Amino acid sequence: MKRQVFLVGYRATGKTTIGKMLSRAIGWKFVDIDEEIEKNSSKSIRKIFEEDGEERFRDIESEILARFSNMEDTVFSTGGGIVIREKNREILKKGFVVLLDVCEETIIERLRNDTTRPPLTNLSLEEEVKKTLEERKKLYEEIYHAKVTNEKASPETITELIKNLLPFA
Ligand code: S3P
Repeated sequence: MKRQVFLVGYRATGKTTIGKMLSRAIGWKFVDIDEEIEKNSSKSIRKIFEEDGEERFRDIESEILARFSNMEDTVFSTGGGIVIREKNREILKKGFVVLLDVCEETIIERLRNDTTRPPLTNLSLEEEVKKTLEERKKLYEEIYHAKVTNEKASPETITELIKNLLPFA
């Protein structure tokens, strides 16, 4: 297994927060794939969705993941939709994949006041989360090595928990 930790999971499950804390706790580098996409494109993800469409965003996402996939001793936070493409899942599976799990109601609550994330469908927030979560659940389940519920515990507790699950010396 590559010396990599990939935090995956739906939007608003805490991947970036936990990823940063975990990388500090184990002394590894940290890469936020969404942030690298924005740097690479010199525009926000919302703008990429608006101006170029989701498919173009997915192309860039795959490109960036492939580009960074040689980095080891690294914790990666990923976008919620990274699991959609099989090619991405193959890359993720070569490292240690941690699925951050949060129930549908909490996700909707956390996304309700969010203005930074572009919508993924024309549906209402509730229907969008229900539909895309349903579609993605099996993809997250297919690749994870450890599943951690990030519902009520503090980020410190979650970080410590993940740290203790890591298979690296
Ligand atoms: C997406 C999730 C976002 C970002 C983009 C698409 C998705 O990342 O990659 O807006 O399809 O779920 P977060 O999971 O960090 O919100």
